[in-house]
Amino acid sequence: MTQRPTARIYRGTPGNLARLARALRRGELVAVPTETVYGLAANALDARACRRIFAAKGRPATDPLIVHLHSLQQLSEVAVPNAAALRLARRFWPGPLTLVLPKRASVPDAVTAGLPSVAVRMPSHPLLRRLLKLCGRPLAAPSANRFGSVSPTTAEHVRDGLGRRIRHILEGGASAIGIESTIVDLRDPRRPRLLRPGAIAQAELERALGVRVPALRPGSPVRGRSQIAPGLLQRHYSPKTPVTLHRKISAAAVKRCPLNEAWLFVARPRRLAGTNIFWLDPRGNLRGAARNLFRRLREIDAKKFDRIHVERAAGEPKGLAVAINDRLRRAAAVPFGQPQ
Ligand code: TXA
Ligand code: MG
Repeated sequence: MTQRPTARIYRGTPGNLARLARALRRGELVAVPTETVYGLAANALDARACRRIFAAKGRPATDPLIVHLHSLQQLSEVAVPNAAALRLARRFWPGPLTLVLPKRASVPDAVTAGLPSVAVRMPSHPLLRRLLKLCGRPLAAPSANRFGSVSPTTAEHVRDGLGRRIRHILEGGASAIGIESTIVDLRDPRRPRLLRPGAIAQAELERALGVRVPALRPGSPVRGRSQIAPGLLQRHYSPKTPVTLHRKISAAAVKRCPLNEAWLFVARPRRLAGTNIFWLDPRGNLRGAARNLFRRLREIDAKKFDRIHVERAAGEPKGLAVAINDRLRRAAAVPFGQPQ
């Protein structure tokens, strides 16, 4: 059998951006950089193009896509914004915040998995903003990885996972934030809910709205989640190596353990060193930790340890540590179809 060619990585020159904008308008897929993670984009108003996203990722059609916008005018074309949504949009857009709102008829069911709501965000990555403008269409884009694997934060990660399933990847450097956007359900503006923690923290949302923004399921596993946010599956960001999440890891525990198991800390551990010791940020800065999280999981995964032990991030109860621990928990969850 002949192999399909590998996707081309395009630098963000004006000529390349114009070419990729034309490809998107023709219904083709383009992997794009965002400030959170790389996305696999298609014209959000073209149902056939959006169905190609699900095919390329191996993603179930029941998992809705986020629509990326260039302007507030585009927001009103795809969603019905309310005052709370406009307040958050003015405060945090362009940036890593996704709002779930009632949808307009222009958005195909393929994008929303048949839901009457649509998830929208205005990304801040300058190359994606230019592409959105040139293309003139809102772009539906999930993370640009095979369904269930670790989200990509570089163009090479995208090529590793989807290289033979797509043709175009726009190079935009390493993602500055490194974890997916915060998602807030604003279908009922009086009862905002946090569906997915991200770099815009719960505390910031509450300050901006002046009301509490409870997490969909504070502290507990998936109960009730599937009806409201169908895509928020328990295991979603997993490396191939089994991951065990720990509240605290002692140096003694690491020293007792064989070298074929890896240990990942948020900060560089002072009393440990070796080929099986890793950290997310030298000083334990949480922004740096989030930025490096998926890249580090990929790097450790490639070394084929028997297990990865990870120590949870410590931090404010409504801050960035929550988002980091959410991704770590998902990486550590049991594979699909197996009992917990
Ligand atoms: O940072 C991000 O949000 C990245 C970049 C590419 O923008 N995108 C991303 O997409 O993380 P994805 O597909 O991995 O996550 C989309 C999630 C869905 O799984 C679902 O949980 C939620 O967004 N979602 C989308 N549409 C929704 C809707 N109508 N109602 C509720 N949740 C929705
Ligand atoms: Mg994803």
